[in-house]
Amino acid sequence: MMEMNTFTVPDITVLKNAGLSHSADFTLPQPLERYSDEDHRTWATLYQRQCALLPGRVCDEFLQGLELLTIDADRVPDFKRLNEKLATATGWQIVAVPGLIPDDVFFEHLANRRFPVTWWLREPHQLDYLQEPDVFHDLFGHVPLLANPVFADYLQAYGRGGMKAKGLGYLPLLARLYWYTVEFGLINTPQGMRIYGAGIVSSKSESVYSLDSASPNRVGFDLQRIMRTRYRIDTFQKTYFVIDSFQQLFDATAPDFTPIYPQVEAAAVLGAGDIDAADKVYTVGNREGWLDTEDV
Ligand SMILES: [Fe+2]
Repeated sequence: MMEMNTFTVPDITVLKNAGLSHSADFTLPQPLERYSDEDHRTWATLYQRQCALLPGRVCDEFLQGLELLTIDADRVPDFKRLNEKLATATGWQIVAVPGLIPDDVFFEHLANRRFPVTWWLREPHQLDYLQEPDVFHDLFGHVPLLANPVFADYLQAYGRGGMKAKGLGYLPLLARLYWYTVEFGLINTPQGMRIYGAGIVSSKSESVYSLDSASPNRVGFDLQRIMRTRYRIDTFQKTYFVIDSFQQLFDATAPDFTPIYPQVEAAAVLGAGDIDAADKVYTVGNREGWLDTEDV
């Protein structure tokens, strides 16, 4: 018998998509009519907060992309209009999706230079934290760098690699690469360390924490090292990996990973906060605030 007093929190993805349907590739026309005035105000608030914070913290390529694509500051952008600019810049397109989509569908989109963007926006009480990606994370966080030719090629190559990794059974190893670069990557610049990961760029608190806090480790990018490293999905990262350039990222990930996966699998798995003897260490975290619960 069902427990009488259990209360299930309504799934926001299900609520937002009620009455809508999507194609086999999980895309749907962006339902512009569903954005309320409150949604547009929430977007404007999130946008203003990040744009006040990011200069001097985010890499130049991100700000250049934001400007080149003229991503709206005051309302949820119209994907169709944005796509005209994006097509000219790098040939990428964004496609509206209901929310998280299956891995193979996601990779297929990336491999064809289509970036799936959740169409709906978080509620005003979720400004600071939302478990699943929404249009602010997916669009503001991810899309500006798609205007950068090198990063754009990296993401397409990742999609192709994902399709292959799935077939080989090594998806968890490749997922770590996405996590520690596309979502939570830092980059060295002549002006100092900067953010490029979408998970950081779309978060007010992690935009500060990732660069300023003494808690996390900051370690030089190394492909196999990253593939060996578990991560956090419930708290700030314990370790950030720092690239020297997008070209370094592209070059390091250009080879076929097929012979690399068995080597990675044979090596010791590292916890999210571990330092490896071979690491190029920028900062060793003081571990303040780290939870002892399991890494993913
Ligand atoms: Fe993301």
